[in-house]
Amino acid sequence: MTSLVGKEIVVTGATDGIGKVTARELAKMGASVTIVGRNAAKGEAVVAELRKVAGHDRVGFVAGDLENQKGVRAVVAAIKGRLKKLDVLVNNAGAMFMKRELTEDGIERTFALNHLGYFLLTHELLGLLKSSAPARVVTVASAAHQDAKLDFSDLQNAKSYSGYKVYGQSKLANIYFTYELARRLKGTNVTANCLHPGFVATRFGNNTSGIFRLMIGWAKLVAAISEDEGAKTSVYLASSPEVQGVSGMYFDKCAAIRSSAVSYDVDVARELWRQSERLTGVA
Ligand SMILES: NC(=O)c1ccc[n+]([C@@H]2O[C@H](COP(=O)([O-])OP(=O)(O)OC[C@H]3O[C@@H](n4cnc5c(N)ncnc54)[C@H](OP(=O)(O)O)[C@@H]3O)[C@@H](O)[C@H]2O)c1
Repeated sequence: MTSLVGKEIVVTGATDGIGKVTARELAKMGASVTIVGRNAAKGEAVVAELRKVAGHDRVGFVAGDLENQKGVRAVVAAIKGRLKKLDVLVNNAGAMFMKRELTEDGIERTFALNHLGYFLLTHELLGLLKSSAPARVVTVASAAHQDAKLDFSDLQNAKSYSGYKVYGQSKLANIYFTYELARRLKGTNVTANCLHPGFVATRFGNNTSGIFRLMIGWAKLVAAISEDEGAKTSVYLASSPEVQGVSGMYFDKCAAIRSSAVSYDVDVARELWRQSERLTGVA
């Protein structure tokens, strides 16, 4: 097993599901792991559990609601207060919402959490990552991006909203973000890669209702892989020497594969970056 002793790793959405297993496995390899979540009681319970399994106490918790920019900035401040360096950032927190809702920033919730949350957190931690190079940004996207397209005339789906479609768009945004980030990080020894974890039996989708909730529950029973299996590609990208220096790629089952044809459109990636800067006020 690769030793990660001395490495500082942050995993978002690590209070449950794929993120929790990712944090656990990285901690077991010896890394200092900071888990980020919105529920402090749940976070502290996970910290206790992971410390026990990992056999050391280098597991900590930072609280913040990542769908709100105030929450992301609070997480950034806490991370900068705790960590002198950052070797790996795993952007994992994510969800699907069947009804269109706005965050306190007035932004559609799926786009805010699944894309702008990753964008702003990474943007604000880039200085720390660069000064810690070699460093890695790992972003959990999804095969759900395959049929998605972004529409800049209605980026937040105000005109028409369907939960699964909007989720797919947010996961396509993760891929554009990763490819554009990798281009911008060229020569810094900070890499950016993204992945599909597989269809994983987590709590994902449990917040849905009706026929979709029934379908997702049934699909999890018959087709989903375990959380342990689903965390493997995240753990691989965060830790393996095999991907040292590899950047701007999309992975599935610990192997680089092609993402959808539209995801390679550099102009769209640049425009999404510009819009994201504007919406998070970092331009
Ligand atoms: N499951 C799959 O089949 C699948 C497939 C492809 C991609 N993915 C992606 O994998 C990632 C992890 O999903 P999962 O399946 O592990 O889901 P999950 O079991 O529902 O876990 C999601 C994690 O994100 C956290 N989270 C949600 N909203 C948050 C917020 N506003 N602020 C901070 N943390 C928040 C949750 O915190 P709480 O504990 O407080 O709820 C939880 O820790 C997501 O990005 C998802 O899109 C999943």
